[in-house]
Amino acid sequence: MAEKIRVLLSEEEVNKRISEVAAQINHDYEGKSVHLICVLKGGVFFTCELAKRITVPVSLDFMSVSSYGGNTVSSGVVKIVKDLDEPLEGKHVIIVEDIIDSGRTLAYLIKVLKQRHPADITLCTLLDKPERRVKKEVEVKYTCFTIPDEFVVGYGLDYDQRYRNLPYIGVIEQQ
Ligand code: IMP
Ligand code: MG
Repeated sequence: MAEKIRVLLSEEEVNKRISEVAAQINHDYEGKSVHLICVLKGGVFFTCELAKRITVPVSLDFMSVSSYGGNTVSSGVVKIVKDLDEPLEGKHVIIVEDIIDSGRTLAYLIKVLKQRHPADITLCTLLDKPERRVKKEVEVKYTCFTIPDEFVVGYGLDYDQRYRNLPYIGVIEQQ
């Protein structure tokens, strides 16, 4: 079946909003350094665009996690596929995610990373689907866009590993 992508958020809209969020981070972390943790693979495009707009000193690290089971419903049991290279002790950590859905992945990540004694940890996400939240305790400080409960692709987000490279965010429509 052919797939058509309906644009939900254009490249211009996304980039403009990322600049706004970066400005907020620059303000909040004035006089400090930030340590961005990119959650692979989905967070990679957003992390790069965000980092380019941050003017306080930035360091970057990458982590890859996967839900056991590997289907579209997150199980809540998360496996670290690739761990961070650097320690977190004393750092101002910002976890950068593509999307928060049930919140299970992040609830787990925050728990694990807090044990490494960062100065503080906040969350920054490109997209949030609050209707789907199961882990209500996950507090997101920086959200670019709140979206309805639709499956989206692009700007790092995939459907079966495809469409990550789209420069905008869209919804797949079967036709
Ligand atoms: P959570 O643990 O349910 O919050 O899972 C979040 C993860 O599910 C994200 O990091 C994405 O990899 C994936 N995900 C959730 N919703 C979507 C979507 O609409 N499109 C693509 N991936 C999604
Ligand atoms: Mg992800």
